Amino acid sequence: MLEVRNIHKSFADREVLKGVDLRVNKGDVVTILGRSGSGKTTFLRCINFLENADQGTMTLDQETFELAHVSCQDKIRIRRKTAFVFQNYNLFRNKTALENVTEGLIIARKMPKDQAVETAFQALEKVGLRDRAEAYPHQLSGGQQQRIGIARAIATQPELILFDEPTSALDPELIGEVLQVMKQLAQEGMTMLIVTHEMNFARQVSSQVLFMDEGVIVEQNPPDLFFDAPQQVQTQQFLKTLREH
Ligand SMILES: Nc1ncnc2c1ncn2[C@@H]1O[C@H](COP(=O)(O)OP(=O)(O)OP(=O)(O)O)[C@@H](O)[C@H]1O
Ligand SMILES: [Mg+2]
Repeated sequence: MLEVRNIHKSFADREVLKGVDLRVNKGDVVTILGRSGSGKTTFLRCINFLENADQGTMTLDQETFELAHVSCQDKIRIRRKTAFVFQNYNLFRNKTALENVTEGLIIARKMPKDQAVETAFQALEKVGLRDRAEAYPHQLSGGQQQRIGIARAIATQPELILFDEPTSALDPELIGEVLQVMKQLAQEGMTMLIVTHEMNFARQVSSQVLFMDEGVIVEQNPPDLFFDAPQQVQTQQFLKTLREH
């Protein structure tokens, strides 16, 4: 469904992505692990055109694009097939939960308001927050705010959802409710690409686990193999460090 090849991205003279390849099939849940600064966020942002890659190709639904030369129209079209869930939720503070979900549908997708509201209620139902539709972000817990972030993503009916450390801003007791929603989405067959530090979750839901180090993917395997028999030294060291903490 999605294939990216040889993505390169530099900030000034610092090369952050050094030729990243990835293939995601429909229904896959791919998790990306890696140390801080290894390029995980930049990679997700390049897939969604929140950053422009310097080099590389993307094939989505049988259409191939040179990432350095994608037209604005194509960017909009491709972006509509994906949704992004941010670490810090990125909700509008002055809008209710419902309005946060309907905003993109009405403004970007030109959906009639009635239909947007109905779609938003369905998405809020899915994340267990239908009864909090009128609440503002400051009236919601971090876990609830992130579930609104997920509802906003689901409501656009994307082919792929990109999650950038969706639980890392949360207090430990709130992480479970967000992971639960994500697990449910995975079980329903949603295609997901997830940067996370939640190892148990990664092991349970992933079809593939990737380890990124210094701008390249050094290892990619199904979760049992990845965690029980890591092949690369960098992966072994990373997992060892985690276990010691
Ligand atoms: N907009 C930017 N301008 C300049 N440098 C950037 C920018 N965004 C990221 N970088 C740099 O690129 C490198 C990779 O950053 P990135 O955020 O992709 O890492 P990450 O793997 O997501 O890390 P973390 O686990 O801390 O979120 C870092 O050295 C970072 O400082
Ligand atoms: Mg990051």
